[in-house]
Amino acid sequence: MTRDIFKPSGRIQFGIFFQGVNSGTIWKAAESGSQTDFESFRRIVQTAERGKFAAFFLGEGLRLREHLGRPHALDVVGRPDAQTMLAALASVTTNIGLVATQNTTYNDPADLAHRLSSLDLISGGRAAWNVVTTDNAWTGANFRRGGYLDHADRYRHAEAFVETAKRIWDSWETPSGPAHRVLHQGQHYTVDVTPRLPRSPQYRPVLFQAGDSPEGRDFAARQADVIFSAHPRFDDAVEFRRDIVSRSVAAGRGANAVRIMPASEFILAATDQEAREKKDWVRSLQIGPQQAIAYLEQFWGRELSAYDPDGPLPDIDPVVEETSETRGSGFHGAKARQLADQWRAEAKDKGLSIRQFVTSRTARIDSTFTGSYNAVADHLAQYARVGAVDGFNISPWLIPTGLDDIVNHLVPELQERGVYPTEYRGSTLRENLGLETPVRLSQQVSV
Ligand SMILES: Cc1cc2nc3c(=O)[nH]c(=O)nc-3n(C[C@H](O)[C@H](O)[C@H](O)COP(=O)(O)O)c2cc1C
Repeated sequence: MTRDIFKPSGRIQFGIFFQGVNSGTIWKAAESGSQTDFESFRRIVQTAERGKFAAFFLGEGLRLREHLGRPHALDVVGRPDAQTMLAALASVTTNIGLVATQNTTYNDPADLAHRLSSLDLISGGRAAWNVVTTDNAWTGANFRRGGYLDHADRYRHAEAFVETAKRIWDSWETPSGPAHRVLHQGQHYTVDVTPRLPRSPQYRPVLFQAGDSPEGRDFAARQADVIFSAHPRFDDAVEFRRDIVSRSVAAGRGANAVRIMPASEFILAATDQEAREKKDWVRSLQIGPQQAIAYLEQFWGRELSAYDPDGPLPDIDPVVEETSETRGSGFHGAKARQLADQWRAEAKDKGLSIRQFVTSRTARIDSTFTGSYNAVADHLAQYARVGAVDGFNISPWLIPTGLDDIVNHLVPELQERGVYPTEYRGSTLRENLGLETPVRLSQQVSV
């Protein structure tokens, strides 16, 4: 019975989400590092570890986004392969978890299970896999399978994939052996494999999941240890928690089985007023004139470089056939004209220029915590008290120095309030997240 009742831990933890692409990270400020140099990664991961962060997190993009046949101007910043980078970071860190986003649509389970086991081995049990399915067929053109699998099938496939990987990691009777052969014969692939590495110190890599549809949430409730959610605002976070608790209880797992860490951004200063001013400055760097025009071009499906970023939204209509958002996600097609009309009306109504309008749309209004260290710490303590989240996955707007104020000022405030760890609990990510040793798949019973 008690397994069905959610009990808040009263604590929060932090992860860092190092973003290469997207306008959230400013790469053109004087303090900006390089988005591909190892030094940027080393500097920031070591700062995160000094701040007792639970995890260092890398996303995945398997194809450069394009628009109108050219690489998307805002995204040509590069993103090194996550597992390669994390293996290197394992050697300059000792406690922080290393989370690799890896999709289930274009990988193979036996191969990926082995590579993740390798990262787990190299890091002494700090590896995690953020399971994504990749939300666009266009990426598929890079692969021999092409852009296959619709949304529902992607999750069915993901489930078979993750189950197979788990069976491979579960095939050890004891940490040193013997391992059973794993046979899987299903709709999507056939696997006959015996693991090539011993069981990990944390049993198997921690599983994160990022995906927000009902299918994605059910999948997470059945399979994941942690959800990288898109719901940081307090009310949303409480509602998302309620939803995940009910889904994980329905899936036969405990109400506390799945941790939740939403995406977030922090703009902090000594006073609220200074933080607000800093936010305006950050936003002006995130969305410059070129970014504003390039953003609209995705939705208009045509060149808009003749338009003044400080003037009104374009009066011409979108080219419907070309209107996919970076040809990667959210294909707008027939809705493009409607969207353009709506945006023009909204911008006119509020008296916003192109740049102001794009800034307001991309401002991550819901995921930004702005304020003094003190005020933001109080606000986060409230999340911890009710158990709205287990932590936040922070995207720094500056790399590699963007965590300095968080680690130097916010973390101590949170520690003083007793809601943030002062030490790592153990040496594995599973221990540091307070996760239990998984039940072996073959022994699992539904309740
Ligand atoms: C917070 C968050 C982060 C994500 N990060 C990635 C990523 O790095 N790479 C990727 O291919 N997909 C990423 N996704 C997309 C998911 O893999 C998924 O394909 C997409 O959200 C569609 O699934 P859904 O309909 O269940 O949301 C992310 C999704 C969310 C919500």
